[in-house]
Amino acid sequence: MSHIFSGIQQLPPDALFGLKARYTADTRSEKVDLGIGAYRDENGKPWVLPSVKEADKLIHEDPNFNHEYLPIQGFASFVDAAAKVILGDESPAIKQERLVSIQTLSGTGSLHIAAKFLVKFYNQSQTVYLSKPTWANHYQVFESLGLKTASYSYWNTETKSLDIEGYLNDINNAPEGSIFLLHSCAHNPTGLDPTRDEWIKILEALKSKNHLPLFDSAYQGFASGDLANDAWAIQKGVEILETPILICQSFAKNVGMYGERIGAFHLVLPTSDNKSAILSQLQTFIRSEISNPPAYGAKIVSKILTTPSLRKQWEQDLITMSQRITSQRIALRDALVQLGTPGTWDHIVNQQGMFSFTGLTKEQVARLESKHAVYLVSSGRASVAGLNNHNVQYVAKAIDEVVRNTDTKL
Ligand code: LMR
Repeated sequence: MSHIFSGIQQLPPDALFGLKARYTADTRSEKVDLGIGAYRDENGKPWVLPSVKEADKLIHEDPNFNHEYLPIQGFASFVDAAAKVILGDESPAIKQERLVSIQTLSGTGSLHIAAKFLVKFYNQSQTVYLSKPTWANHYQVFESLGLKTASYSYWNTETKSLDIEGYLNDINNAPEGSIFLLHSCAHNPTGLDPTRDEWIKILEALKSKNHLPLFDSAYQGFASGDLANDAWAIQKGVEILETPILICQSFAKNVGMYGERIGAFHLVLPTSDNKSAILSQLQTFIRSEISNPPAYGAKIVSKILTTPSLRKQWEQDLITMSQRITSQRIALRDALVQLGTPGTWDHIVNQQGMFSFTGLTKEQVARLESKHAVYLVSSGRASVAGLNNHNVQYVAKAIDEVVRNTDTKL
């Protein structure tokens, strides 16, 4: 018997989580997961950062530890410390008190709050420009709230490098006051970031068109291993731009707190006017959706950021993760060169962060999965963190086989 919901259509599984489910269900012992962007250690296992282990211990040993609600805007010491990590201790935005910050459900929750804020309060444009390509979820985060999305040029397929000319043209051609989403470092999916000179050109172009920048910072510390370095574009934006700046910050990857959903939304304002009114609106968004944010991850991250010895350990953990990924980039490139795999492979080592945009085609990716049990996203994005000394040769041989035996050459 049909009912009022009978007409609802089945959607395909989410590209990334669907991939993860196929990987998990695969019984082949040689399988390799290069799908979801989550760090893996040398044995392919999830890694609890030493700084997190230590913070966890300290929190549980504290006799005042409890599971009470956090305030609606989040754990104050976490929110303050998070702002300093992304903007720098000496940020003029913090010193001049023209910053509004609130705790969110990781980066996606932060993007959602940013989207809600723009829908309600940004009158100049309801179109968000996204890099081509971008993280697939960006589209639905914005579109699900009624914002429109458009693309700006980013990746040049031919040269496997940044199409800076197209990028700047698209900034110039977008209607004045458009919203531009910028990956602050370790671009997902390409692993390709603008140079500092290019960033300055991008920021100046945004400024001249009065566009509103929204920085997505999901990988701070993963690109270079250095927090300040990876926040350079944002901090330069604060220096150069005169518009407000929206920043969506995730601690999923860089503290390895994936499932704890810990992040923040920051709004840098040109002046300190109206801060408290804006905060009150953001608080209402949070209250109506999740009442108040989860406490556990906030306590861990806050402990790490505010305890000097733990902060030092965390900075070391970031180096451990980023260096291991870099070494696997080199190992994969070298193995492909050694095998004489048709195509060029230097882009794998020139890219940074968690991902490599391999240039493999959809068909090649499908064959990697079906024939070799090597899983990556159909766009050809590989999570390099899934490689290690035990599987990198196997993966290189698998790539070699699919490149040689599919029609499309790289
Ligand atoms: C990814 O791109 O793999 C990660 O950001 C995980 C996710 O939630 O999509």
